[in-house]
Amino acid sequence: MGLFIGLCYDLKADYLKAGFSASEVMEFDDEETIIALETALLQLGHQVERVGNGKELARRLAKGDRWDLVFNIAEGLKGRSREAQVPAICELFAQPYTFSDPLTCALTLDKALAKRVVRDRGLPTAPFEVVNTTAEAAAVSLPMPLFLKPMAEGSSKGVTGRSLVKEHQELVNAYQVLHELFGQPILVETFLPGREVTVGIIGNGSNSRVVGVMEVIFTGQVEAFAYTTLNKDEYLERVSYRLLIDPEPLAAQAKQLALDAYHTLGCRDAARVDLRCDPNGVLQFMELNPLPGLHHVRSDLPMMGRLGGVTYTEIIAEIVESAWQRYKC
Ligand SMILES: Nc1ncnc2c1ncn2[C@@H]1O[C@H](COP(=O)(O)OP(=O)(O)OP(=O)(O)O)[C@@H](O)[C@H]1O
Ligand SMILES: [Mg+2]
Repeated sequence: MGLFIGLCYDLKADYLKAGFSASEVMEFDDEETIIALETALLQLGHQVERVGNGKELARRLAKGDRWDLVFNIAEGLKGRSREAQVPAICELFAQPYTFSDPLTCALTLDKALAKRVVRDRGLPTAPFEVVNTTAEAAAVSLPMPLFLKPMAEGSSKGVTGRSLVKEHQELVNAYQVLHELFGQPILVETFLPGREVTVGIIGNGSNSRVVGVMEVIFTGQVEAFAYTTLNKDEYLERVSYRLLIDPEPLAAQAKQLALDAYHTLGCRDAARVDLRCDPNGVLQFMELNPLPGLHHVRSDLPMMGRLGGVTYTEIIAEIVESAWQRYKC
């Protein structure tokens, strides 16, 4: 059945035009992503309207406009609840929308809170401390090596060659640089030196399914220890991606841990879960993205679909179907 779908997004070009810096808009979407989404939805027989960002959505909803479904990829501009803003506006106006609710979107953006909830469920996640001051950085008591990243960012923001530290002075310096740049608490975690995978999930409840378990292999000469900003930007030269399939023990473990995290954090419709192995090869939960990137070529979820023979349009169809089913019951 064809739906009238409103597309909500934060377009990079709009914010650059309004004077924001490249770093501030790094997580936002390119025109290409909007076109790809629009094209897929039209191909599926839906009618699509570009609504724009959260403020525009609020204005339209307040005016009385409604859509059968809002397809939301807006990440929001400010604060650790920014990804929850569009979902919250939709709920306020009883407007059906795709993906997780405000609670899950806010919880998962705060990586420390998400880790606490996952850990409480008995799922493995690296030991960590949240650091707010230089004195706290100097007092971190976790064993080295450690990994530092901003507590509430995405797209590898703040993940650089400096994130991996092997002694205390390095840790304090890295903390100061990150804190200065991002003005938020810094997550200091045990460094996970093992293999890294990202797992795409679509669906709800017992109908949730893993789209793919994709290993991320760093092949560059520098920063080969993590998915840093540099590796992400130059992924064609520095990263290779491989779908792990079932006889591989890591694939089964990754699927289970990712699904457990998806359900524990209360995700809906789709998400991507990032996992990495500790020195013993045991997978650990790193973070979950309830608004997974949907660039048709570059983003991980479409990429793992492609590697497994699922087209971009099929992924979008499954997301819309999952969301629509929730509102039908
Ligand atoms: N504790 C850790 N040990 C080793 N590497 C880590 C650790 N935490 C993060 N990393 C590396 O840093 C990358 C980015 O971290 P994370 O996935 O938490 O951030 P993100 O910016 O939210 O990611 P995304 O781009 O998926 O939104 C990971 O993919 C991984 O390569
Ligand atoms: Mg990640």
